[in-house]
Amino acid sequence: MDLNRAINSTLIIARSEYKYVADVKTDFAELPLVTCHGGQVNQVVLNLVVNAAHAIADKNKASGTPEKGLITVTTRIEDGFAVISISDTGGGIPEAIRKRIFEPFFTTKEVGRGTGQGLSIAHSVIKAHGGKLDFVTELGKGTTFNVRLPLGDAEQRIRRSLIAANQVIREKPPPLPEPLAAARSHRRCGHHSNARRARNRRGCRRHRAATRAAVTAATSTPPPPPPAR
Ligand SMILES: Nc1ncnc2c1ncn2[C@@H]1O[C@H](COP(=O)(O)OP(=O)(O)OP(=O)(O)O)[C@@H](O)[C@H]1O
Ligand SMILES: [Mg+2]
Repeated sequence: MDLNRAINSTLIIARSEYKYVADVKTDFAELPLVTCHGGQVNQVVLNLVVNAAHAIADKNKASGTPEKGLITVTTRIEDGFAVISISDTGGGIPEAIRKRIFEPFFTTKEVGRGTGQGLSIAHSVIKAHGGKLDFVTELGKGTTFNVRLPLGDAEQRIRRSLIAANQVIREKPPPLPEPLAAARSHRRCGHHSNARRARNRRGCRRHRAATRAAVTAATSTPPPPPPAR
């Protein structure tokens, strides 16, 4: 997945949540494509952006002097991870609740504004990808959440586990044994023009007979050796 592109789309979707309280600035590094569950990672970014907007809105409400805040979204590569950082100029996370924010259903928001599931789901999603989700916060100044998704070798490991879990398209099947492959390949049969071959995907009668013969040959047990005299 192209993370920078996905983030831009998510920011458009989240616009109605932040447009009155904050400006958004992005600073993207060039990133390789990252193997991940696109929908889930978009959901994580969306929750972090909405949280950032809420933090700025809450700070404004508390201070009574509404001032447009800033949400900064950056990407970079660090220690074999693609890192997405989402910073806000909100009020920061009070010491007393820092340990609890990833707990399921922990929220400081009123009913209807938050269910407290965002960060807990985000944490599990990023962990399942072999990544990390952490934050740095300063009271009165704001908070930065960092999403780290593995690249390279680690990425290969995740790809294999996702394939095993059948969440992404399967790998190519292993090649057929040589006689079967030859017989199954209608392209090699040379009995028809390309157009006709394309229409007749099962192959011509001669080709099907050849396939059947090859299947029988490949699957039947070989005859016993002649008895020794
Ligand atoms: N950027 C932030 N600044 C300050 N506090 C935050 C920030 N992000 C999260 N929090 C705190 O962590 C709590 C949990 O966040 P989480 O995203 O899990 O739930 P929520 O936003 O309350 O509800 P939901 O995401 O389910 O709509 C929030 O209620 C808030 O108190
Ligand atoms: Mg949330």
